[in-house]
Amino acid sequence: MGRRLEFTHPSLKGKLEVPGDKSISHRAVMFGSVAEGITTISHFLEGEDCLSTIDCFRKLGVIIEQNGTDVKVYGKGFSGLSAPSEVLDVGNSGTSIRLLLGLLAGVPFDLTFTGDESIAKRPMKRVVDPLRQMGAQINGRDDGNLIPLTVKGSALTGIEYELPVASAQVKSAILLAGLQADGETTVIEKERTRDHTEKMIQSFGGHISVDGLRITVRGGQSLKGGHISVPGDISSAAFWLAAGAIVPGSEITIENVGLNPTRTGIIDVLREMGADMDVHVDEEAGLGEEVGTITIRYSKLRGITIGGDIIPRLIDEIPIIALMATQAKGQTIIKNAEELKVKETNRIDAIATQLGRLGAMITPTDDGLIIEGDQSLRGGKADSLTDHRIGMTLSIASLISDGPVELENESAISVSYPSFFDDLERLIN
Ligand code: S3P
Repeated sequence: MGRRLEFTHPSLKGKLEVPGDKSISHRAVMFGSVAEGITTISHFLEGEDCLSTIDCFRKLGVIIEQNGTDVKVYGKGFSGLSAPSEVLDVGNSGTSIRLLLGLLAGVPFDLTFTGDESIAKRPMKRVVDPLRQMGAQINGRDDGNLIPLTVKGSALTGIEYELPVASAQVKSAILLAGLQADGETTVIEKERTRDHTEKMIQSFGGHISVDGLRITVRGGQSLKGGHISVPGDISSAAFWLAAGAIVPGSEITIENVGLNPTRTGIIDVLREMGADMDVHVDEEAGLGEEVGTITIRYSKLRGITIGGDIIPRLIDEIPIIALMATQAKGQTIIKNAEELKVKETNRIDAIATQLGRLGAMITPTDDGLIIEGDQSLRGGKADSLTDHRIGMTLSIASLISDGPVELENESAISVSYPSFFDDLERLIN
């Protein structure tokens, strides 16, 4: 039995804070664990993905106290981690496995990674290849592309590496390995991707140089713990931004939301689609991460073309952008987004098939989607396919559907937004 979502002429009104940023919460635990001293984290995302990261570090001997969204990490330094007696299970979390492969490639012991059925299909070679060039010994199915992966800890040497894909996870894995490698490690990005790792290295007292798309770290640095206040996740806020824009009569304000420019492609898209929206950037909250408030009101949107270097700045928001586009005037084309095929599901297919089950006309292409505008959705049965962002997109779709939506596998939503349905209820008038 799925969750039945049925609303008659809803409108969404009110103010809210969304849970902490997923990317920053993962990194706060990782850096806190390998730093010297204690790191305290507030507004930590208590979603399953970030809890998987905590679980892995506990197995590596790090003491981590978690009390809701407050976390205290007793850092051990890079050399203080101990050999785990169990397999490290990352669950559904691509960020955990990819960043930890880099962070743990140079430890003086062996370990094994596993994960859920979705992780079992996701490519790890993009991380394993550069790490092998640094001297890492990583083995697994399909020449180290697929879990289970074993790491035989070995000494690393710095490299210069041009990223073949625009991926913050790959960039971060190499930089984390670089912090423990001999000499310097340079990553050259294809397109700018989220830079939370770079910012966090600095806020933990490390040195990193960023020159355009060229990022360099030196090995042998030690990091120092401190306090991290995690901003709200713009990728979670995106569901309310979309709902506010497409559900007639709505007005929603989201406070304390992260506005790091490498993540705000959704704001650019909303502006270009003609949304009625105010964005206010507050003072930076210590981490070097911009934080602010967004208010959005219902308005008629227009279809646009989305592609090129904005894609990494909104990659996780494409499912909800596709839903918004079904309500806009005119067609929307999303291109250069082939990375969607290797997310928690193949999101090109998942968006087209599952929104299609509710009556939307969306054509999948090789690198994106073509979405017809001005569509009415009839509702019906649809499935998150165990992908949290597909589940939330289908839930927002129920607000504008003529009939109810029966959502299968809704529990996937707790990967990044465990209080999603509570917040939905709070906003509904
Ligand atoms: C993330 C990077 C992105 C994103 C993911 C989180 C990160 O993945 O989709 O949700 O925290 O670095 P890629 O690096 O695969 O693009």
